[in-house]
Amino acid sequence: MIPFQCRFHVPISLCLAHRHASTSSKIWLHRQSRDAFVKLRSTEGLRSRSAYKLLEIDQKYKVFRGANVVVDLGAAPGGWSEVAVKRINQVKPNGTGQSRVIAVDVLPIDPIPGVESIQGNFLIPETHKLLISSLGGSSVDVVISDMCANITGNRDRDSENSLDLCRAAFGFAKMHIPGVIRPQEGGNSTNGKGGILVMKYFDHPVMREFEQELKRAFRRVNIFKPKSSRSESGERYFVCIGHNERTSSSHQRNIL
Ligand SMILES: C[S@@+](CC[C@H](N)C(=O)[O-])C[C@H]1O[C@@H](n2cnc3c(N)ncnc32)[C@H](O)[C@@H]1O
Repeated sequence: MIPFQCRFHVPISLCLAHRHASTSSKIWLHRQSRDAFVKLRSTEGLRSRSAYKLLEIDQKYKVFRGANVVVDLGAAPGGWSEVAVKRINQVKPNGTGQSRVIAVDVLPIDPIPGVESIQGNFLIPETHKLLISSLGGSSVDVVISDMCANITGNRDRDSENSLDLCRAAFGFAKMHIPGVIRPQEGGNSTNGKGGILVMKYFDHPVMREFEQELKRAFRRVNIFKPKSSRSESGERYFVCIGHNERTSSSHQRNIL
């Protein structure tokens, strides 16, 4: 059983020692103790409260249907990866294809059966190289990103940080998830419906232009606020379905 962790993934005792005098930490701890999803998380033994957000997203958009290869960005402590590995094994038709979940985070991730992990900062090219080499030439069906920089409290700066992380996830997804392809071009594990990108962002005017970029690259871009996401938080998720970038490197690879 992992020790109960604070939102920075530090055991709660250490977290308390550092944040002892802060009023905001008292408010946070009080809210944690009342939060139904925190309670559920500890009774169900899930690694994170965030896992419920991905379960809600998947319930609505069926992101793992037909998927074999999933990349989880900002994966520590591993709640989303646990959900992904269970879901792709449950929903895979006739056990086809080789399932993989690759988790990436700046922080170490305790081992999860069926999940490969890479420790690195996703804002630097070295981490992309490690991930690409681990993929060994296969394309990615679903990219999920719950990446979140430490919150500064400055709404503009936090949104800029969130946008940088979203851009990094989108850049990777554009290159490595398959585009929508016509039936006569053959299939891949996404059955030609194109890959999916799910990513967290914080609501802010700087996101509007980025949303337009996403809309040019995907057939459908949905904005989703899970019930398990705290109402006072500006956190939202882009759920981008049907990548239509027909010139992506993965598409080229699929048709060679
Ligand atoms: C909200 S937590 C993710 C929780 C995770 N989805 C789960 O269910 O366990 C956000 C994560 O993003 C990671 N992160 C933030 N910036 C990152 C970066 N530049 N590269 C990789 N990971 C990053 C943090 O280390 C943190 O673990």
